[in-house]
Amino acid sequence: MIEIRTATEADWPEMFAHDVRAFGSPFEDEARPLIRRTIDLDRFVVARDTADGTLAGVAGSFDLTLTVPGGRRLRAPGVTWVSVAPSHRRIGVLRMMMAELHSRYVADGAAVAILTASEGTIYERFGYGPATYADEVTIARRTARLRSPLPGPIRTRAVDGAAAREPVQALYRRWHAATPGSVSAEQFWELFHADPEWARWGGSARRYLLHPDGFATYRVDEKDRAALDDLKALTAEAEADLWQAVLGLDVFDEVTADLPGDHPLREMLVDPRSVRVTARRDRLWLRFLDVPAALAARTYSADGDLVLGVDGEAYRLTVSGGAAECARTGAAPSVRLSGATLAGLYLGAVDPATMARAGRIDGDASALAPFRTDRRPELGTTF
Ligand SMILES: CC(C)(COP(=O)(O)OP(=O)(O)OC[C@H]1O[C@@H](n2cnc3c(N)ncnc32)[C@H](O)[C@@H]1OP(=O)(O)O)[C@@H](O)C(=O)NCCC(=O)NCCS
Repeated sequence: MIEIRTATEADWPEMFAHDVRAFGSPFEDEARPLIRRTIDLDRFVVARDTADGTLAGVAGSFDLTLTVPGGRRLRAPGVTWVSVAPSHRRIGVLRMMMAELHSRYVADGAAVAILTASEGTIYERFGYGPATYADEVTIARRTARLRSPLPGPIRTRAVDGAAAREPVQALYRRWHAATPGSVSAEQFWELFHADPEWARWGGSARRYLLHPDGFATYRVDEKDRAALDDLKALTAEAEADLWQAVLGLDVFDEVTADLPGDHPLREMLVDPRSVRVTARRDRLWLRFLDVPAALAARTYSADGDLVLGVDGEAYRLTVSGGAAECARTGAAPSVRLSGATLAGLYLGAVDPATMARAGRIDGDASALAPFRTDRRPELGTTF
């Protein structure tokens, strides 16, 4: 028998050891106090084997906000720390924990739950679908010259961690408000700015570049290579200025970065081949908990009136002036899709026509054109 209950402080040391084992993390006790402060145990469950008390599983969430197209921010539980002990796998422990968490989120009134996944085949069965993607790119810095370099000195400044702390937090807040697919990250700031050695995964301390309307952070992770963790710009001017600073990091041959698929970097360069995509990865996964609330929260690129079938339920979506109303209906849907497929359309990650070509939309996919956005969503962090 497996008992699922809210985690307590007494569970914490075992939860931490369990997580370190599940994810093969190289750190142990040195990381525990800082990581503990990112976590609200009331949002976590433990699964215990009632026969001998063994900790069979852990799962929980961070209390996050998610920006949706149009700029509204939804409260969104960010599911995290999901793991089941090797002794108790494939007997339904994850299924039980997810059912418990989702029922709590519904009771709490959340419209969506979100997560980042260790594997691509675990979460669709629980209703999640990829909702943002990122390209991992390697930039050949020595050939990557801007088409329109700004006259120097540029406005970006290299600053140390202490000087970066306040401005980076303020800029991140502005960037989160302006960027669909992004999440709030306040829980992680203490850890982010402490930048302890164990969290560097072999790289250097974090370096900061600051502009009045954006920032960049990177580590040196191999000789001759800078790994860009953030380049978050609020304006086109800040984008150009920050990239000029990054591409001017003269000692490095390569810069690696994670960019949304429609990022303008390639178009900013004289030689577009300086940017090589090495992988395309799903980042944020999203599950609808309240379809009408979620669909009414975003804006749309065209007006319309359609009846959508999502996982067997019908919803009328009426868009006027870009703003939507949505409610359950008894009318017959003109277009049907799964919640996991709708997750791909919701933030603008996948074009409805692409989903239709993939055979994942039943009915008139052109009715879904209002879901199109002029910009791909960007998670821009991890949790
Ligand atoms: C992934 C993990 C949590 C699954 O836990 P579990 O208790 O064995 O899963 P369950 O028994 O509840 O399985 C539920 C369903 O998911 C499927 N499933 C579970 N893990 C899967 C995986 N890694 N890949 C594909 N399917 C998986 C099961 O086959 C089962 O399918 P069914 O509904 O068709 O029967 C566990 O293997 C684990 O701890 N892995 C290492 C840590 C990790 O990757 N965590 C996820 C972090 S995002």
